[in-house]
Amino acid sequence: MDVFEALKTRLEIKEFEKRHVPAEVKKEILEAGRLAPSGMNSQHWRFILVDNGEDLKTLADISMTGKWVKDCDFAIIVLTSTKYPWHLLDAGRAITHMQLAAWNRGVGSRIYTGYDEKRMRQTFNIPSEYSISGVIGFGYPARKILGRKNRLPLEQVAYLNRYGQPISF
Ligand SMILES: Cc1cc2nc3c(=O)[nH]c(=O)nc-3n(C[C@H](O)[C@H](O)[C@H](O)COP(=O)(O)O)c2cc1C
Repeated sequence: MDVFEALKTRLEIKEFEKRHVPAEVKKEILEAGRLAPSGMNSQHWRFILVDNGEDLKTLADISMTGKWVKDCDFAIIVLTSTKYPWHLLDAGRAITHMQLAAWNRGVGSRIYTGYDEKRMRQTFNIPSEYSISGVIGFGYPARKILGRKNRLPLEQVAYLNRYGQPISF
């Protein structure tokens, strides 16, 4: 899939088919995370693949904003090192890489960031030096995605040469 086409059509979904995503696609998604750029090439992200029903249910139970993760085929917990002031930027880049690689294979996804941190650390054995920067749930979309994005127009978010100066093409 053309990269810009993927950007235009990908929506964050939370309803998934029961069908399993093949192991090779899961590996490709993790590879996309591994290939992401990071500040000073520090590569401090760590990814935990959660692919069994019981752990997905636990993820849902200890989340405030990602209850839908129980219906995913698998999830990836993204950890980044708080040693790097830019660690959340790196998390965002790895997450975007993984979501686009997934969409290229027809796999939908959504991120969530609301969870009981203590229980996340206990359950998944997460060391204190890592921030839990996001959890992404993945799976085949339950229904056809119609690709309508609710976004501000370009002129409202982009300027020419100076803040506030209108841009047009
Ligand atoms: C930093 C970040 C945090 C998010 N946290 C949550 C969350 O906790 N729960 C959730 O269901 N969606 C979460 N989302 C998904 C957003 O709501 C979604 O990306 C946004 O509504 C745009 O969706 P769309 O691309 O389908 O239009 C988060 C997205 C981002 C980028």
